Amino acid sequence: MTRKFDFLVIGNGIAGISFALKASRYGTVALLSKSSLDNANTAYAQGGIATVMYSPDTFEKHIADTLDAGDGHCDIDAVEKVIKEAPAQIEELLSWGIDFDRNDDGKFDLHKEGGHSEFRILHHKDNTGFEIQQALIRRLHAEKNIEVFEGYFAIEILTQHHLGEVVTMHTPNIECYGAYVLNQQTNHIHTFLAKVTLLATGGIGSVYTTTTNPDIATGDGIAMVHRARGVIKDMEFVQFHPTALFHPGEKPTFLITEAIRGYGAVLRTQNGKEFMQKYDERGSLAPRDIVARAIDNEMKMRGHDFVYLDVTHKDAEETKMHFPTIYKKCMELGVDITKDYIPVSPTQHYLCGGIEVDLNGRSSIDRLYAAGECSCTGLHGANRLASNSLIEAIVYADAAVKDAVKYIDKYSWNEMIPAWDDAGTKLPEEMVLITQSFREVEQIMSTYVGIVRSNLRLKRAMSRLEILYKETEDLFDRSVVSRELCELRNVISVAYLIIKHALRRKESRGLHFTVDYPKRMHKSE
Ligand code: FAD
Ligand code: SIN
Repeated sequence: MTRKFDFLVIGNGIAGISFALKASRYGTVALLSKSSLDNANTAYAQGGIATVMYSPDTFEKHIADTLDAGDGHCDIDAVEKVIKEAPAQIEELLSWGIDFDRNDDGKFDLHKEGGHSEFRILHHKDNTGFEIQQALIRRLHAEKNIEVFEGYFAIEILTQHHLGEVVTMHTPNIECYGAYVLNQQTNHIHTFLAKVTLLATGGIGSVYTTTTNPDIATGDGIAMVHRARGVIKDMEFVQFHPTALFHPGEKPTFLITEAIRGYGAVLRTQNGKEFMQKYDERGSLAPRDIVARAIDNEMKMRGHDFVYLDVTHKDAEETKMHFPTIYKKCMELGVDITKDYIPVSPTQHYLCGGIEVDLNGRSSIDRLYAAGECSCTGLHGANRLASNSLIEAIVYADAAVKDAVKYIDKYSWNEMIPAWDDAGTKLPEEMVLITQSFREVEQIMSTYVGIVRSNLRLKRAMSRLEILYKETEDLFDRSVVSRELCELRNVISVAYLIIKHALRRKESRGLHFTVDYPKRMHKSE
């Protein structure tokens, strides 16, 4: 069946929903979620959303902190755009009913996280993302112009390739006409035609064995654009959060927000010694790449699986009030954070790279925009400053709507796109092949493409991945499409891009550290 909309939005986190809410003022919108509306990285965010609120903070300070964390690789125009447009976007979030914590004087209660020189993080307790996601969903249901498709998985974006043309990365003006989409309930593949498409498919955590991301984070948008010959950038910059709760076997890994270090918690080795001062004068509040590498180093030197986070010196009632979700989760595991040290270790958390977009959120493919974690705007550079991603997502979703509406009347639906062709395929009889290959990708990436890299490890990862790639493409050609098989293809593409970009970078910068080139080159490429 073919469906036609002015705007097709693939993804239901803060980027996708905020785009949909604004685009619906100008035309019809289809919003796809491969899972349920509440299942998105957005809903997991703890720390909050960074923005300049009160003196003595200034735009200049937030810009300087972002550039510093980004380790010489940020796009200054993107940085200025996000930070200066943030307050207006926060106003909009407030108008949608999102509730951030306030002090008794009515002013917002601001948190501080690693790399921030001022208190500037708006939050709702320690479950800011849940609050945002719920408010966005409530707004979404109130909009008549938006049709929501839950359980609909976007398989491929549609381009001239689907009209039989040969498309390469040198083809001028590749255009996007919508997407092929799998209805997971009926197993039917629909053609969604759109004048403008937004990719807002979120992160890539599922590529690693341990991650803070829910299992929807399989990098689908990035893989789709890669297959469509669009430009993908900066994939080597994978962010590991320094302090995920050490609880082997749990996926996603539970996060211990960096805000708790802003509140006063300190990192200690298993024998109780503080160690961060050895690595950076900002101690436990240094930017994430530095803290994660320091913990990794301490753990490797001592043969330990975790370090401790200590908040026991703070007032117990205050700790419980600020961090109720963390308190409850740790108590369930027998750790009373007001009395006991919390065992933590670094885990995959965020991807700074992704689909390259300009200041209007446009990708290298015409009529295709990207926003949120799947995109690469240049804001984060080589390492994201904490709590800068939710704000980036909403600023760029806004920019994308503003740009798209200028052109929407010029575009028409491309009715020449054929229906999905699954002739010659049959059901994959062996699901175990898919799950086992998935596990192998996670293992390859966690073993060889983690916090510390080397040429040898990266090359070994690439040769192992090539085998999985060939087997999976073969399976894809023979099988009826399933979400699991598509996600496997996508994580393989994402893993390939991370390794390829990591091999290309002959230096250590931000989140990319390699023992073969331990120094930063003078200029970033
Ligand atoms: P998401 O919120 O991940 O939404 C993407 C959606 O797309 C998903 O719901 C998925 O189902 C859907 N989708 C994906 N592929 C397809 C497909 N093929 N077809 C259909 N639908 C698809 N950032 C901050 O700024 N501050 C924080 O405090 C913070 N804390 C965090 C804590 C945790 C534990 C995690 C995991 C992340 C945190 N982040 C934080 C990062 C931030 O939450 C994410 O970067 C941001 O929410 C991403 O939003 P998004 O809209 O791009 O994607
Ligand atoms: C955290 O709360 O530590 C996560 C913040 C972020 O990822 O931006």
